[in-house]
Amino acid sequence: MKVDGKHFRSIWLASDGWSVSAIDQRRLPHEFVVARLTNCAEAADAIRSMLVRGAPLIGATAAYGMALAMRDDKSDAAIERAYQMLIATRPTAINLKWALEEMRRVLRPLPPSVRTGAAYARADDIAEEDVTINQGIARNGLALIEAIAAKRPGEVVNVLTHCNAGWLATVDWGTATAPIYLAHDRGIKVHVWVDETRPRNQGASLTAWELGHHGVPHTVIPDNTGGHLMQHGKVDLVILGTDRVAANGDVCNKIGTYLKALAAHDNGVPFYVALPSPTIDFTVADGVTKIPIEQRGAEEVTHMTGRTADGRIETVRIVPEGSPVANYAFDVTPARLVTGLITERGVLGANPAALAAAFPERIASAAE
Ligand code: MRU
Repeated sequence: MKVDGKHFRSIWLASDGWSVSAIDQRRLPHEFVVARLTNCAEAADAIRSMLVRGAPLIGATAAYGMALAMRDDKSDAAIERAYQMLIATRPTAINLKWALEEMRRVLRPLPPSVRTGAAYARADDIAEEDVTINQGIARNGLALIEAIAAKRPGEVVNVLTHCNAGWLATVDWGTATAPIYLAHDRGIKVHVWVDETRPRNQGASLTAWELGHHGVPHTVIPDNTGGHLMQHGKVDLVILGTDRVAANGDVCNKIGTYLKALAAHDNGVPFYVALPSPTIDFTVADGVTKIPIEQRGAEEVTHMTGRTADGRIETVRIVPEGSPVANYAFDVTPARLVTGLITERGVLGANPAALAAAFPERIASAAE
């Protein structure tokens, strides 16, 4: 998507043909900085430190991390070392494991001499495939927005989203934002309620920044506002992303998603989750009990970072010294609260039969 009129992706192969460029998301919205990743350890660190984040982008970065590893050492042991280093970075988004297993599947049977080229080719494909998938999600999700717009010609369609499932969280387009961007580009009046998404504020810092650069009308709201807006008819539908969907349709996403689903259910607001197929984990039968939930550092809760009036980036403490904090990064929304899953193969029911029917090849590979 566009940044100040210039097209960017969140990650790309640098012009030297081997190092990897990625937008440093820790610096947004205050500074637009492109980082350069030159080896596997730097790719792993970029994921761990959330220089890059968002399930599909974590997967694409890991794929490039494996390619960078192959430049330095093409042995079987190096494939395994890179896999272990990258898989340890973040536990919840399944796209990480999907991308690494895909890289390992391609690389292992090859002679070492051709592994580097093959690794870059597959990493490039994973990135390209993500963009194509998200364009499919855009088309399928657009129909939902169009249906609401058709019922109230000329009126604004209000979408609520949580966290950042935008182009920054993927390679391009985003998942939750893809239908929104397409609707906006087609002239449908859309407005997005953007949950700030404490503690890291991916909504306030990233989603608002993206939407603003694309000219999509939006309003940032404190996380607790959604229920009130739904009660008063100010939300037509919720669309958000996910880090892992279990075989039973349970949806894991940024902490706070479950509360939005409960509020949507109570108010009859459709609650849609947009996802690319690599986010489905057919090896997990029950999302609520089995998806690992990342717990992150206390400082994300105790401190906030922002720009001061005189332009400095400062971090300040907002919790009393000594108060314990908990920082669960994700929660799981039971399938019964999900109206539909917007995928590249259509809008599916959040249930095992619909997922299995739409992605039979993924079930087969999960069983291997
Ligand atoms: O901790 P983050 O910022 O990586 O969490 C991101 C999310 O929860 C997104 O909603 C999810 O990865 C979907 S991104 C298309």
